[in-house]
Order: sequence, then C-alpha cells, then structure tokens
Amino acid sequence: MSLRHFETAPGPVDSGSARAAPAGPVLTVTGLRAGYGPIQVLHGLDLEIAAGEVHAIIGGNGAGKTTLLRAISGLIQPSAGSIDFCGNELAGRSPAEIVDCGVGHAPEGHRVFRGLTVEENLRLGAFRRPGKTRASVNSALAEIFEFFPKLSERRRQLAGTLSGGEQQMCAIGRALMTAPKLLIIDELSLGLAPIIVEELLHILSKIHAAGTTLLLVEQDVSVALGFSDRATVVSSGQVALRGPARDLLADPQIITTYLGG
Ligand SMILES: Nc1ncnc2c1ncn2[C@@H]1O[C@H](COP(=O)(O)OP(=O)(O)OP(=O)(O)O)[C@@H](O)[C@H]1O
Ligand SMILES: [Mg+2]
Repeated sequence: MSLRHFETAPGPVDSGSARAAPAGPVLTVTGLRAGYGPIQVLHGLDLEIAAGEVHAIIGGNGAGKTTLLRAISGLIQPSAGSIDFCGNELAGRSPAEIVDCGVGHAPEGHRVFRGLTVEENLRLGAFRRPGKTRASVNSALAEIFEFFPKLSERRRQLAGTLSGGEQQMCAIGRALMTAPKLLIIDELSLGLAPIIVEELLHILSKIHAAGTTLLLVEQDVSVALGFSDRATVVSSGQVALRGPARDLLADPQIITTYLGG
C-alpha cells in the first residue's frame, strides 16, 4: 500500500455522505516541525483541511497527534513550517490570537475547571468572543445549551462532579463559545462508553451541519473513519497515508501496519 494509492486530488472532496460538498482549504499545514525542547516530534508534516469537511487524524500512541493539535492552537511553537488558516499564518501567534482567528480546541482528557460550575466553564470559553457583549455571550450560551441539553440541566453543577461524557460535552461547549470556524477535538471517545460516544457524534453532526469544520483526533479507528469525510494517518511525526475515510476504512492493512492492531 502506498501513500499515492490513497492521496486525494486537490479541490472538492466527494464525501459520499449527505453533507454539502466541502470547498477550498481552511487549514493548510506545510512542512511542520515541532517538539519539546531538544525532542523533535513532528518531522515535516503536511495537512490540508477543506472548508466544511470532517477530518480525522489517526495514528498510534506517541505518533504526534496531540503535538500537531498543540502546534495548530499555539500551545507549542513550531521550529519550522507554516500553518495557514483562512489566509492567516498561525505559526508564531499566541493561543489567544489563534482563538481570535477562529480555531476552537477541546484538549485531550476532556479538561474542565473542576471547581467551577458548568455555566462558569462555558462563560470562560467566551473570554475572546469577537464583539463580546453580555447579550452575545448569553445567546452563545443558549446555543450551546440547545446542542447539549444535558449541560443545560446541569448548568449549576460543579464541572468536577460531571460524568466523563458530560465533562467532554462541557469541554466541547467551552471551545464552541467563541463560534470557531474550525473545531478541534483531541480524543473524543477516550474512556467513554459506546452509547455516550454515539450521543456525542450525534451532537457533533448537528454542530457540523450548522457550519463548523471539524478536525478530530481519535484512537477508535472505526469511530474516526465512520464519522469523517477524509482522514490522515500520522506515524512517527509524519503523514503515512491520507484519503477518503471510506477508502481507508475498507483496507484492514491500515490497522495492522500503522495503528498497531
Ligand atoms: N511535554 C512533553 N515533553 C516532552 N515530550 C513530550 C511532551 N508531550 C509529548 N511528548 C512526546 O512527544 C511524542 C508525541 O506525543 P503526542 O502526545 O503528540 O502523541 P499522540 O499521538 O497524541 O499519542 P496518544 O495517542 O497516546 O495521545 C511522544 O513521544 C511523547 O512522549
Ligand atoms: Mg494524544
């Protein structure tokens, strides 16, 4: 199996789903190198996400998936390469500036502020909301509660006492409070029961239908490929494969070769 076999031609992607055809790229990562001090993790990684698509990043433990998301969100600075988001170069910008550009990030481990209520967690997410007013934050909050009725029911509950699935909802809801064009979620399903993952995917499909491009890092390959239009397989900090999710799903060799299954 070669990279060429799966690589998609530039331009619109036929997802085969009922979703509208994605347009040009919102995110183009080119030759990205990043790591932690002397440790290089990403070795010249390229990635393109089309507007309106659901894109999955898959790869074994330690492949560099979280590091890639951290570099996109400005949590670590790349040592080389570029990250173009809707015509803005993100490399060198702060995490807050990258939020302003329209990137929302729900980090690994469904992180919430455990000692704050659900509503306080969500309101904190709006700290960089463009044109922020009390009314606009309240309407964003109402929208999040429409997507996640469980959060509405538990708005006054301390986030640290939520179930794992509810904490994931709270983390995603917080990332959505700035109305991002691109929502990044690191490990959607980790530690969650299949029925909760189903519920989250159902909500994410509504968020996607409302116009948000999704970039998901996901350990569960069948969840990742079943839900996405296209996917990129990362191995040792480089792209091993990329292509339409359904083509990757149809090839069992991917699991054994790249994902250690
Ligand atoms: N803060 C850090 N300092 C030093 N090395 C780190 C740090 N965070 C991650 N690494 C290393 O970078 C490499 C890639 O880690 P990363 O978290 O990006 O992998 P991943 O693909 O997200 O893995 P997983 O599937 O387990 O979440 C690993 O070898 C890891 O040990
Ligand atoms: Mg990770």
